[in-house]
This record gives sequence, structure tokens and C-alpha cells, in this order.
Amino acid sequence: MPFDLTGKTALVTGASSGLGRHFANVLARSGCAVAIAGRRRERLEGLQRDLEALGARCVPVTLDVTVASTLAKAVDEAEARVGPIHILVNNAGMNIQGRAIDMDPSGLDQILDTNLRAPFLLATEIARRMISRGEGGRIINVASIGAFRVLAGLSAYCMSKAGVAMMTQCLAREWARYGINVNAICPGYIATELNQDWFESEAGKAQIKGFPRRQLMREQDLDEVLLLLASDSSAAVTGALFSVDDGQSL
Ligand code: NAI
Repeated sequence: MPFDLTGKTALVTGASSGLGRHFANVLARSGCAVAIAGRRRERLEGLQRDLEALGARCVPVTLDVTVASTLAKAVDEAEARVGPIHILVNNAGMNIQGRAIDMDPSGLDQILDTNLRAPFLLATEIARRMISRGEGGRIINVASIGAFRVLAGLSAYCMSKAGVAMMTQCLAREWARYGINVNAICPGYIATELNQDWFESEAGKAQIKGFPRRQLMREQDLDEVLLLLASDSSAAVTGALFSVDDGQSL
């Protein structure tokens, strides 16, 4: 691993699958202690066993990020078990595919609550603690290429991710003086539970053929950017929106 995070502590949301699970693994392999947050306790405990087998310190934290009243308690629990959080990875996210005219208010609320409101509330919860400790920190938001361009059938998702991109810049500006760096990774398409059904469909396969490299990305394509943003090497990088999309947006 190109970056050494020994002595650092991270909280990763949505860690029971996909990118969140992968990010927790990458951070742990770089020496970071990791609090893995999500709703599916059994999966978190399975990941905990895997990471502990690597010699990492790891604690599962059961958390639904949309329940605002539980966020502080979850961070308390994580910090009590692995120590003060230096790195937050706001990864939990969801989508509902379909036409905007078919979206009902509860679906819209669910997307915005999960993808935009929760990362804001968690970032502010963690930042207050970082500010009071005076040691700075790193907040990494997982946005999407949908923050910058229309992904057909994913209007509310793109709206939420565009919000995450602007939130990243607003918080980076506000917290720069405290040494808290806030950045976003904006990935292209990677096969996960979020989009598995779509990319197994004929229309999804046709979409892949339209990408410049005719392929989906791999989870590991994000590793170096994640580690750079988590590490002390990115001291002067804040408010940046990193598209890592294998050219899919071109
Ligand atoms: P995923 O579905 O495997 O992971 C999302 C995780 O968030 C799941 O573990 C899910 O249970 C969790 N989650 C959803 N709502 C939650 C809630 N209320 N409380 C706690 N956890 C919750 O999908 P994937 O792809 O790993 O997604 C991770 C992030 O990456 C998301 O923010 C997604 O928007 C983003 N992303 C994914 C891309 C892809 O192609 N897979 C591309 C660009 C961004």
C-alpha cells in the first residue's frame, strides 16, 4: 500500500457491501483502525473478522444513517472502541431508478436523506469533534459522475450527488482553518449491489459497450485516490472533486 495510515482511525458508512466494504479493507491494510458502520450487523461482523485476521483494529457499529438522532451515539460508540476518528468516509448511498414523473415524495425523501442529508449531518458531527481536538482531519465524500452529468433514469440520485459535490466545497471552505480537509471521490460505474441488476440486463450490457473502454471499473481503481485523501500527503488538497471514471464520462 502506497500510504501508511498507522495510528489513524477511520469511520466508513455503508460498510456492509460494495465500495464501503472495500474502502474499509483498503484503509485497514494501510494500518488504519476502522469503525465499520451499516445496518446489516451480521455482514459487519463478517467483515470485522476478515479485517481482524489481517491484524487490523476494527469495530462494527450498527447505524441507519437516515436516523439523525442516532448519529452522535454511533460516533460515540466508534470513538470509545477505536479512538478519535481522524477520517470519515461518507459512503452509504442508494438510488431508485425510473422516470422523474414516476417518483413519489417518499422515494425522493429516501434518496436525499441517505445521499445528502446524512453525509452532511455526519460530517458536521465529526467536524465538531475534530475542531474541539484541534488536530484537523479528513472527510471523504463518495459522490458520483452523476454529480456533473445526467444519468438517465437517475434524476434524484444525480441531484443528490450534485448536492454532495457542492457540500464538499462548502464544508472544505468553512473548515479549512481547522485543518479539516473535505474532498469527494466521484466514481464511474462499478458493479455492486447498487446496480447489479441493471448491468446484468441487456440495456445495461449495451451501456457498457458504449463506454470508451467497453468495461465497468473495478473497486480497486479507487484505492490510491482514497488513500491519498485519507493521508497526511493530501495536506493541501481540500474542496477537490476527484472524478475517477475510466473515461466513462467522455
Ligand atoms: P452498495 O449498495 O453495495 O453500497 C451502499 C451501502 O450503503 C450498502 O451497504 C447499503 O446498505 C448502505 N446504505 C444505504 N442506505 C443506508 C442507510 N440508511 N444507513 C446505512 N447504510 C446505508 O453500492 P455501492 O456501489 O458500494 O455504493 C457505495 C457508494 O458509492 C454510494 O454512495 C454510491 O452512490 C456510490 N457510487 C457507486 C457507484 C457504482 O457504480 N457502484 C458509482 C458512483 C458512486
